Amino acid sequence: MKRLHKSSSQPYRIKVMTVSAVRSPVQIRPVRESDAPLFRNWRGEPSIRRFQPLRDLPLSQIRDDIATQSIDDLYRSRGDRFQWVIEVDDRAAGWITLVVGNWEHGLCETGFALSTAFQGQGVMPHALTLLLPELCLRSTRERVEARCAVRNQASRRVLEKVGFRKEGVLRGYFLLRGKRVDHYLYALLRDDYL
Ligand SMILES: CC(C)(COP(=O)(O)OP(=O)(O)OC[C@H]1O[C@@H](n2cnc3c(N)ncnc32)[C@H](O)[C@@H]1OP(=O)(O)O)[C@@H](O)C(=O)NCCC(=O)NCCS
Repeated sequence: MKRLHKSSSQPYRIKVMTVSAVRSPVQIRPVRESDAPLFRNWRGEPSIRRFQPLRDLPLSQIRDDIATQSIDDLYRSRGDRFQWVIEVDDRAAGWITLVVGNWEHGLCETGFALSTAFQGQGVMPHALTLLLPELCLRSTRERVEARCAVRNQASRRVLEKVGFRKEGVLRGYFLLRGKRVDHYLYALLRDDYL
């Protein structure tokens, strides 16, 4: 698959507005219980685990986690965890997670990953631009945070391309294969879309 956009160090807000005008090969949809096997497989891929401390989880636990999620809750200021599956030409390619830390203050954190075959083709920036403006403008989210290992250059590039700003270093933030790993903290504010 060809890259879906040109490289740019600028957030591409114009694309945010135009991307839904025609059907794009990249789509996002709310996660379904039947996606549980996909998530289990994805979580096991070495490239997905490279910078993230993901554990093997039983299928039943993944399915139970998905069963508690309802995207409708997001717009009713309820619930604490939401996930979307990214599809490329109707094939499931990866996921985006949103964890709400505090409803009162509008704080949440996003995480994301693509299956190995879909990485490096511009899919994730595209998928995030389908979600973030909608999230910031339709829900009461004021601040979306994201953390990534300082060595995860692809993740950093994605965050910067969709408008996140780097706010600092979280020293020794996660334990990854026995070593504490520094992370960058990024954030995108609702005001960035207004
Ligand atoms: C990180 C990830 C989400 C990026 O999504 P993507 O759709 O592959 O990203 P892109 O194709 O837009 O690439 C982003 C940039 O990183 C660069 N890049 C991609 N892979 C890279 C790598 N292994 N090392 C360095 N740079 C890399 C690309 O060249 C691109 O740079 P450019 O915009 O200047 O051309 C995806 O690679 C992935 O799922 N990785 C495994 C899981 C993960 O690390 N998740 C994030 C946890 S915070």
